[in-house]
Amino acid sequence: MTREATLIPGDGIGPEITEATLQVLGAMGAAFDWDEQFGGMSAVEKAGTPLPNATLDSIRRTGLALKGPLTTPVGGGYRSVTVALRQEFDLYANVRPVKTIVPGGRYEKVDLVIIRENTEGLYVGLDHTFKVGNDPKAVAQAMSVMTRDGCTRICRYAFDYAKTHGRKRVTVVHKANILKATSGLFLETAKIIAKEYEGVIASDDKIVDNAAMQLVINPTQFDVIVTTNLFGDILSDEASGLVGGLGLAPGANIGTKAAIFEAVHGSAPDIAGKGIANPSAQMLAAAMMLDHVGDLGSGTRLRRALETAIVKDGVRTKDLGGNATTAEFARAVARRV
Ligand code: NAI
Ligand code: MG
Repeated sequence: MTREATLIPGDGIGPEITEATLQVLGAMGAAFDWDEQFGGMSAVEKAGTPLPNATLDSIRRTGLALKGPLTTPVGGGYRSVTVALRQEFDLYANVRPVKTIVPGGRYEKVDLVIIRENTEGLYVGLDHTFKVGNDPKAVAQAMSVMTRDGCTRICRYAFDYAKTHGRKRVTVVHKANILKATSGLFLETAKIIAKEYEGVIASDDKIVDNAAMQLVINPTQFDVIVTTNLFGDILSDEASGLVGGLGLAPGANIGTKAAIFEAVHGSAPDIAGKGIANPSAQMLAAAMMLDHVGDLGSGTRLRRALETAIVKDGVRTKDLGGNATTAEFARAVARRV
């Protein structure tokens, strides 16, 4: 049975890693009926806007998307399309698993999941500069907005995820000592939800700076981490570095009406077009998408094939110390599925 899904190849390395992923899905016979759409820089070039209505309409219809990274101008320019999509479809839970695949790296046996609140906090877009005298940017101000409902649903999602995925502990990461209102509300809410799961899922909390250090010193102490938007963004890149880098880190953006799957990394302009990007993160995102639609067998099969290609066959892209191209790696995974 095929299921319709939106495909956004994205910018930079996006089209390369997307093509590699489609090749593997094709080899598996995993059936998505793709509706290809554009977003980000490539959409500006093709449609004159970074987020065309056709892309929104497609996701509204399918409720399911595989998305490549989208370039966001730094400083000025248009707002992040990735963030806009998360807000438009209220994809409140960003689920980012971090697992050791390549042996002999910095850490063996890392297996943690970061669950990041994906719609609130400092990403709500209330970010302004103010003119004083002749200086148009004399003062800059950003506002973080947290709601009790927003905190409740992400914390409940994290504890529920822990329960349904056989996890043991949820660590709440916050900065409630300084951000007493916003991070304070998050921690207060998390503690209420933790009580509901008492005896089923253990829980503790850590201040974000300590959590960042603990991740580097002893990552295997973590199981599920639930945190706010900015901290989750930073900690998930950090955590990917514990297991070989961004090339191996997938993510899911989950809401009640739609879900978008993507790599944690960005469009990697420094290596775009060279055919050397690691498509693993995007492939693992596709595996999460298969899990999401209930095709657990295929998700597991894809993950196993990818691990076998990397570990047994020793086919690795440059970021993992190998010399395989994106296409060679895709062929190796496709052979193993
Ligand atoms: P990045 O994640 O694109 O790259 C960081 C570093 O990791 C670079 O050295 C890159 O070459 C390397 N890298 C990333 N993915 C890789 C892969 N699959 N294989 C091998 N190496 C890989 O972050 P950066 O440079 O800060 O951002 C570039 C652009 O991407 C920006 O416009 C940013 O806004 C956007 N971005 C988009 C995201 C999304 O669409 N979800 C997420 C993060 C950034
Ligand atoms: Mg990020």
